[in-house]
Amino acid sequence: MPAIADLSTADLDALWSRVQNAYGAFRARGLKLDMTRGKPSAAQLDLANPMFTLPGNGDHFTDAGEDVRNYGLLQGVPEVRALFAPIMGTPADQVFIADNSSLALMHDCLVWALLKGVPGGSAPWSKDAAPAFICPVPGYDRHFALCEEYGVRMLPVPMTGQGPDMDAVEALAVDPAVKGMWCVPKYSNPSGEVYSDETVRRLATMRAGAPDFRLFWDNAYAVHHLTARQHEILNVVDACAAAGHPDRPFIFASTSKVTLAGAGLALFASSPANLRWFLARAGKRTIGSDKLNQLRHLRFLRDAAGIRRHMEGHRALLAPKFDAVAEALERHLGGTGAARWTRPEGGYFITVDATDGTAGRVVALAKDAGLALTPAGATSPLGRDPHDRTLRLAPTYPSLDEVRAAAEGIALCIALAALEKQKQVRAERR
Ligand SMILES: Cc1ncc(COP(=O)(O)O)c(C=O)c1O
Repeated sequence: MPAIADLSTADLDALWSRVQNAYGAFRARGLKLDMTRGKPSAAQLDLANPMFTLPGNGDHFTDAGEDVRNYGLLQGVPEVRALFAPIMGTPADQVFIADNSSLALMHDCLVWALLKGVPGGSAPWSKDAAPAFICPVPGYDRHFALCEEYGVRMLPVPMTGQGPDMDAVEALAVDPAVKGMWCVPKYSNPSGEVYSDETVRRLATMRAGAPDFRLFWDNAYAVHHLTARQHEILNVVDACAAAGHPDRPFIFASTSKVTLAGAGLALFASSPANLRWFLARAGKRTIGSDKLNQLRHLRFLRDAAGIRRHMEGHRALLAPKFDAVAEALERHLGGTGAARWTRPEGGYFITVDATDGTAGRVVALAKDAGLALTPAGATSPLGRDPHDRTLRLAPTYPSLDEVRAAAEGIALCIALAALEKQKQVRAERR
């Protein structure tokens, strides 16, 4: 496809009318498609159906003989902590297992830090006049919503392809009001980026103005590979400890997209001091979480090899959907300069940067054609994308046929919006 900016006026008009017709034909199909939901499909959830009969009648004791049906074991079943410890990057005795939502753990850590403070700090974060978090953009809207909910200022930094722009991060982190930073270090939501070793090292070693600065290390996609290459990232707990900042990272993960999104396990891990801090708060909040579900996960996943095998099943279902989106975008938009998009090797999202100033228009065109897209701006703090260009596509939930159809429609909307913009720019120039 030719670059839109280089087209003659006549060719621009001709292409606009061709794409307009193709868009009209797509709209006339009367489809109802939804590419907003970053959640597993029913076929993915079916992979975990054997769990329903586990742990089995009478199988309700830990290795040490504790009855998981009862209260207790606040930190979680030791052998289940051992199963997930390699993913968390700490010894098992520094892992905490909660009920199904890691987002809830992030919420609790933020609120407890605001109300009570964290180890190394002299006061609760809320005592600071204007506590702030560094927010890599594009990022996860629910992280931003937590900050917004509790009045934490958000300081955006761009992503680079290797993780956040570390020069920008280091410049912001020296401010004592900057208390934390959101990080999705592997197959980031939504850019799919994997933090480089250099990025992790700089995050571990950088000077933080606040002695109680925390990395909220949300490793939600730790084992969620889409290709044969199983990316590994540097162990941030070890890197921070080696740099003399052992309490810097709070690690979060969950099995929401391993087993069951509504009935998985959430995981927290950190330094011994942070874990003691966490347990002191958690022990007021609950007498213990659902340990039967913990045993169920152990019986089903068994070991690291079992987790890998299970994730292969997800990959087989998901990779064709991601490929279908890439294929349609390339076919309609390759060479046009109308958009750039990611080819993630894991995770749940594809990020498309459409032509500046058109993301809102793309979403509106799509809606008009029966295609729901995540609102423009959702991947920026407060929902405001200063360039109005970033779109987050979630191809996991619809069927492969639906994803194929939706990707066609999205590509047409992006192309049409880019052509409209080019016509408008030229009209204003005249
Ligand atoms: C980066 C990230 N963190 C956390 C979550 C939610 O995790 P959980 O289901 O464990 O609350 C998601 C869900 O999409 C996510 O993308």
